[in-house]
Amino acid sequence: METRTIRDRFFAFFEQREHQRVPSSSLVPNDPTLLLTNAGMNQFKPYFLGEQSPPFDRATSAQKCFRTTDIDEVGKTSRHLTFFEMMGNFSFGDYYKADACPWAWELVTEGYGLDPEVLWVTVYETDDEAEEIWRDAVGVRPERIVRRGKADNFWSMGVAGPCGPCSEIYADLGESFGPAADNGPAGNEDRYLEIWNLVFMQNDCNAAIEPIAELPKKNIDTGLGLERTAMVLQKAASVYETDTLGGMVERAAELTGKKYGSDDATDKGLRVLGDHGRSLTFLIADGVLPSNEERGYVLRRVMRRAIRHARLLGRDEPVLPGLVEATAELMGDAYPEVVEKKEFILEVAAREEERFSETLHKGLSLLETELAKSLGSERRTLSGDVAFQLHDTWGFPIDLTQEIALEADVAVDTDRFDKLMEGQRERARSARTTIGYGGSDGTPGTEATYFTGFEHLEGNGKVLAILEAGEGVPVAEVGHEVDLILDQTVFYAEGGGQVGDRGTVGSPSGAAEIRDTRKTDGGVFLHRAKVTTGEIAVDDELELHVDQ
Ligand code: SER
Repeated sequence: METRTIRDRFFAFFEQREHQRVPSSSLVPNDPTLLLTNAGMNQFKPYFLGEQSPPFDRATSAQKCFRTTDIDEVGKTSRHLTFFEMMGNFSFGDYYKADACPWAWELVTEGYGLDPEVLWVTVYETDDEAEEIWRDAVGVRPERIVRRGKADNFWSMGVAGPCGPCSEIYADLGESFGPAADNGPAGNEDRYLEIWNLVFMQNDCNAAIEPIAELPKKNIDTGLGLERTAMVLQKAASVYETDTLGGMVERAAELTGKKYGSDDATDKGLRVLGDHGRSLTFLIADGVLPSNEERGYVLRRVMRRAIRHARLLGRDEPVLPGLVEATAELMGDAYPEVVEKKEFILEVAAREEERFSETLHKGLSLLETELAKSLGSERRTLSGDVAFQLHDTWGFPIDLTQEIALEADVAVDTDRFDKLMEGQRERARSARTTIGYGGSDGTPGTEATYFTGFEHLEGNGKVLAILEAGEGVPVAEVGHEVDLILDQTVFYAEGGGQVGDRGTVGSPSGAAEIRDTRKTDGGVFLHRAKVTTGEIAVDDELELHVDQ
């Protein structure tokens, strides 16, 4: 059964049962406690908490999800993904366990045609009610129902918020995935694959994931992993051999000239390219831009990890644009945004790859030399100073350094790295507060800026220099306040009794708000900029817009 059929049948099943179909929310959540959307229920959190009243009592969706915790696992296993689609049905204080369990069973067995003989269910250790429903109302054989503790069968968002006991449906993948276990999924998680999680959302929990109160109503939140379900129904050996992700892996193989299935190292690389290619496309489509902070950092991490694996597989030419194209072809029907925004995504991807390609080689040779030294030493540890230099000078996300070190069986002194990072942040903070605006006076040798703003309020300009607290820096990240020096500008600088212009500037890598424009005695325009998304770097070509 094709992925699109699994998706369509899910919607049809729950729409027949009066569920309102709701579009996926963005990967950038409307929730300050979450970095990226990690479950279908995220967009409904205010309904579960009783903070807002829902416009409908039942909903169904296919949600774009991203799980940062799994980045390093991707490639190594047959089922880990960063980006995945989660099908869900939700009840906001309407139906509860007695309907949710039989419906899930009906869809899995009759709708998707899975033999009940391959299915197992788990329930939370104290949830007698759920066990009774599965056994007596649904007819699951008692030996196929397994009780599990909080680590497995109590679901939360990983942050404070709605949570509750859960019950999961597992499919037995058979002998080729390992030995059978009497207690099924509790005995062998490789052979028994979780496909559907039914959460009985009834508690509010604190940041330590301890339930602190009952929710105003009892709710249902379910999540069926689309890629995993496709793996079971297509009898694939991994999620990477299903129709959609298989297409991604195939494209990665074409781009690198490799063959999936040749050896473990090749397969790992191709899986990384397949997964990361999809996830970076979706992140950029939802407005995330690569940077060194927060979700921009997550994106940079997957992009740079993918680039490194492409080089390992022998591709020296750009690889990310080809993966963006493949994602648009394979997923554009269900998620039109990846087609509509394709040109922009391609630009961002190409630029990040170009930038990292310039430093990857130098960084890798430094790392290899240092790893060889560490291997010869007793502690087999790469110093935090080298990790910091790799990050600061050569753009290696710390996780990438760690991954490469780990491959050589070397640890990284992350305590020292964290200290150096904190010291750098501290220096930047104090420099910003003590020097303030007046410290910037252009960089030596910068020529007077060519001013075109008498005729236009919009134009282009290339970044010649960036001053942060009076000192030249190569790049300004989101949140930073800097002075931009451009080769030409449409922004009028304060003078002759007129205030300096304000407005916005931007490129595919980032955008900034221009809060003031001043001019040095030498005629160099200083655009006081606060970076609002992504980052602005020297040599960027910016589009300039003066606020009329
Ligand atoms: N929120 C649950 C999960 O993510 C069920 O949708 O697994």
